[in-house]
Amino acid sequence: MKKVRKAIIPAAGLGTRFLPATKTIPKEMLPVVDKPTILYVVEEAVRAGIEDIVIISGRGKTAIEDFFDNSYEVQDKLSKDGKTHLLERIEKAKNLANIISIRQKEALGLGHAVLCGRPVVGDEPFAVLLADEIMVGTPTVTEELADQFHKTGISTIALMEVAPSEVSKYGIVKAEPMAPGLLHHPGKLFNITQVVEKPSASEAPSTLAIPGRYVFEGAIFEEIKNLSPGKNGEIQLTDAILKLAQKGRMNGMMFSAQRFDAGDKLGYLKANIELGLIHPETGDGLKEYIKYLAKKL
Ligand code: UTP
Repeated sequence: MKKVRKAIIPAAGLGTRFLPATKTIPKEMLPVVDKPTILYVVEEAVRAGIEDIVIISGRGKTAIEDFFDNSYEVQDKLSKDGKTHLLERIEKAKNLANIISIRQKEALGLGHAVLCGRPVVGDEPFAVLLADEIMVGTPTVTEELADQFHKTGISTIALMEVAPSEVSKYGIVKAEPMAPGLLHHPGKLFNITQVVEKPSASEAPSTLAIPGRYVFEGAIFEEIKNLSPGKNGEIQLTDAILKLAQKGRMNGMMFSAQRFDAGDKLGYLKANIELGLIHPETGDGLKEYIKYLAKKL
């Protein structure tokens, strides 16, 4: 079976939840402590053995491409100033993987964004990582999904439990556990039988949601290509997931990493606080500040 060596990172969305900041700055470039969100996502892909990364970008998103390119002025200045540590970090970030950029000319939906990556991926298995979700933990979610895919050859997507009040923000699945045991334990595997995009609490088949990490067989492209616009008039990735599920070819997996929805204001602030607390330059100062704030609240 072919190994998962390619990934698609859709980053062409309009980021309306983060306006006005995202009018001119891609939300994927907003910094969490000292790295743009998309760098955490690219690092996760690389840790899972991914070599070729297709970033789906759109109008106003050239800052993403520039980030993974040379910046001679900055590099020259750091070199002359002897700031080798920063220079090394910049060099490392741009040499992490082969970054390939493809434009999605119109934000027609996540399914459409993934289909834009087909010319690079071909019929190989591939990972999809949403550019505005940061997953922190070892092993990474993409590693866990790819390992599982390599055992079965069946598309495997991340699943997580959400509160009933949250189901309308996600694709929600109906899924049968593949073995007895605790339902929400990391590594727990499910056979997905039904998927509903952003259902109301009464329509939701469960409270098992799809966050933004997936490993797919190449066959998903044909399913996306044959879709008509779904919820909100968009080509929905969840509709293609349902098609494979109906053929018995879609598994789900609970994961161990901590997830931050950095495309959402509160999620973004939480990511900055938690990652700021473990950052060597900011951890101690931030801890003191949080203690001070807690006394005031
Ligand atoms: P979101 O729905 O979270 O992104 O899509 P959005 O549309 O940019 O955000 P809001 O809701 O308006 O604030 C999840 C991921 O899919 C990408 C987004 O860039 C994001 O990383 N996406 C979405 C595309 O690349 N193209 C699309 O047509 C839609």
